[in-house]
Amino acid sequence: MTKSILVTGGTGTLGRLVVPLLRDAGHRIRVLSRTGGGPAAEGVEYVTADLLKNEGVEAAVAGMDTVLHLAGGPKGDDEATRNLVRAAKDADVRHLVYISVIGADRVPLGYFKAKLGAEQAVAESGLPWTTLRAAQFHDLMLTAVDKMTKLPVVPVPGGVRLQPVDPRDVAQRLVELTLGEPAGPVRDLAGPKVYGMRELSRSYLQACGRRRPMMPVRFPGKAGRAYRAGENLTLEGATVGTRTWEDFLAERVNANAETNANAK
Ligand SMILES: NC(=O)c1ccc[n+]([C@@H]2O[C@H](COP(=O)([O-])OP(=O)(O)OC[C@H]3O[C@@H](n4cnc5c(N)ncnc54)[C@H](OP(=O)(O)O)[C@@H]3O)[C@@H](O)[C@H]2O)c1
Repeated sequence: MTKSILVTGGTGTLGRLVVPLLRDAGHRIRVLSRTGGGPAAEGVEYVTADLLKNEGVEAAVAGMDTVLHLAGGPKGDDEATRNLVRAAKDADVRHLVYISVIGADRVPLGYFKAKLGAEQAVAESGLPWTTLRAAQFHDLMLTAVDKMTKLPVVPVPGGVRLQPVDPRDVAQRLVELTLGEPAGPVRDLAGPKVYGMRELSRSYLQACGRRRPMMPVRFPGKAGRAYRAGENLTLEGATVGTRTWEDFLAERVNANAETNANAK
């Protein structure tokens, strides 16, 4: 059966991967973002709305069977999600799917707390729902290590471990969940390996053929304690992605090198 699916944040890192998969599966897709637009494709419509300001949300949700809620930012995902949930209820949406983050209930940082608030808004919405918690995407780690390795000495927060996951694996899983029956909270999705910050920076430098000295630093406060205790990880019982950080680096760094060579 062809479904009408609203993908909030369908222009972002994850959304750009999910939208073509849902469309190729034969569904009608409406993509919501603040700036609008995106690659033109049959069966894909782009609308503008601001979930945080609650502008244009009702019109965006009207007539949709399913909402896949990916839109997010550093702040306010709880408020934005409450606005979306209200509109989805009024529109009698039949399935609301949400992407959250591993450690939403355990890491004392504003972003994680807002993701937990958003999860609660979804679970308490009265709508049939599914929520997937994922680990940090490779792209986010790449941005972070790229910034850190531009410093003369690379800071290495001691005891911090991460399980970066490829957003293509997250996109694939979200498509299964979106086209499946509402399932409530599902198993977390993490990358195939656990890394310390030193390993993540070192492998990036190696892939780029660069060297930098590294210096251990302490991640202070409650958040530092939570990270050192591994509260941001799911070491047992997670669904595990297929592509490692090294696989991703090999692809991405090679692609960048080719682009630079072609530009010369
Ligand atoms: N990145 C990670 O490592 C990670 C890990 C776990 C979970 N997640 C979650 O996965 C989701 C997608 O992440 P991502 O990395 O793909 O994010 P992203 O690349 O920053 O994309 C965010 C998307 O949301 C839209 N958006 C942001 N604020 C909005 C608002 N107020 N109203 C409407 N649209 C808005 C953006 O478009 P406009 O800017 O045009 O509005 C864009 O389409 C987020 O919910 C994030 O919390 C991410």
